[in-house]
Amino acid sequence: MPEPDLEQLQRQHIETLQQRYSKALVETGYDALLISSGAAPMRYADDHGYPFQGYGPFLHWTGLTGLENSWLLIQPGQGARLQVHTPDDFWHASAALPDEAWARDLAVEGSVETAPPLPVLSTQLAVLGDPLTLAGVPGDHNPPALVTAVEATRIHKTEYEIACLAEANSRAAEGHRAARAAFLAGESEFGISLAYQQATQQRESEAPYHSIIGLNDHAGILHYQFYDVVAPEVSRSLLIDAGYRYRGYGSDITRTWAGPGQGEFQALLVGLEALQKRLCQAVAPGVDFVALHRKTHLGLAALLSSAGVVKGMDEEAMVAEGITRAFFPHGLGHLLGVQVHDVGGKPVPSPADAPFLRLTRTLEPGMVVTIEPGLYFIPSLLAPVLAGPLRHHLNQGLIDILSGCGGIRIEDNVVVTAEGGHNLTRACLP
Ligand code: GLY
Ligand code: MN
Ligand code: MN
Repeated sequence: MPEPDLEQLQRQHIETLQQRYSKALVETGYDALLISSGAAPMRYADDHGYPFQGYGPFLHWTGLTGLENSWLLIQPGQGARLQVHTPDDFWHASAALPDEAWARDLAVEGSVETAPPLPVLSTQLAVLGDPLTLAGVPGDHNPPALVTAVEATRIHKTEYEIACLAEANSRAAEGHRAARAAFLAGESEFGISLAYQQATQQRESEAPYHSIIGLNDHAGILHYQFYDVVAPEVSRSLLIDAGYRYRGYGSDITRTWAGPGQGEFQALLVGLEALQKRLCQAVAPGVDFVALHRKTHLGLAALLSSAGVVKGMDEEAMVAEGITRAFFPHGLGHLLGVQVHDVGGKPVPSPADAPFLRLTRTLEPGMVVTIEPGLYFIPSLLAPVLAGPLRHHLNQGLIDILSGCGGIRIEDNVVVTAEGGHNLTRACLP
């Protein structure tokens, strides 16, 4: 059972969703909506499914990540109905019906059917969900105007959602502390992942995304996906990007640590952390996120200069010539919610100078964003610069030393408030 406050907030959250969804349905000409929870597809020629987490709009209403083949039926003016798939199956545990206060505000029922409940008296039925689960279901499947309108309902978080994201941060913080200790104790990437899971008490398949745990040069692979079971001879650096899912909501936190004797890397790390904190402090309503991303590049240029990685170029020129992009190829951040890269962040496409930026909005109160600048030594991106006309500006010897540490990313989750921003991550992981 959640705390009484959270319980109250969740009931308000559902009420807000009723209003937001009613408006979206009226505006797009529908009088009923079915939302599929989704189902994990089977692996080809096998009898095992892929790990399952659930479809965003279903999680937005229920927070229930483990329910496959379940349905929500929403009819403005008539409330919402939740059908939970409870098959007669002696191989697996059956899903328990939620019995918390919010669920009592919906009509909840178990069903052995995978087919959805159908509305009576609906003439315009829309259906949202993974097309793999919608075969044979009547109504308009994933109509684009409604998909866009429903995505818009997720941009501004309710108080309940912010409380869940705060808790998701607090629990992940325990994992990050344990991971740092495991790194300093010389554990392998696999050992560090075990320490993280032990501290968070969450298996990785339930976390919002597969953790990224890279030692040494692996820290320079943006979404490094393996775990070496053997520790390297010398652990020079650790980059860990790992979250926690609480009642459907995911935190997304990255920390980078230097091992003993890595003076040059440690200096760069201190500089990047200072820049990251300044960027978090800049979060406020009215801030253009694309402009903040560009400001990050100028900050990185200053850091590359002061660290002696790049010499004899002014900051604007380093950005204009694409040098900072070779060190920081991804975006500054994204919206966060029931999906780690939450929807609704790009009403306009990313600009040509920031092709991987996932958020092109002006910040408004209620948005929750990540702020995650990075600085990496990625051979395939640095090679053309090191071979090009500006090569004399780069300190190859220092780059060789730093390459052994892979890279740095520091990532916090920040709520945009009426006054500025509230950093959910630093509140529990200073
Ligand atoms: N964990 C993926 C990201 O930071 O966007
Ligand atoms: Mn992120
Ligand atoms: Mn991340």
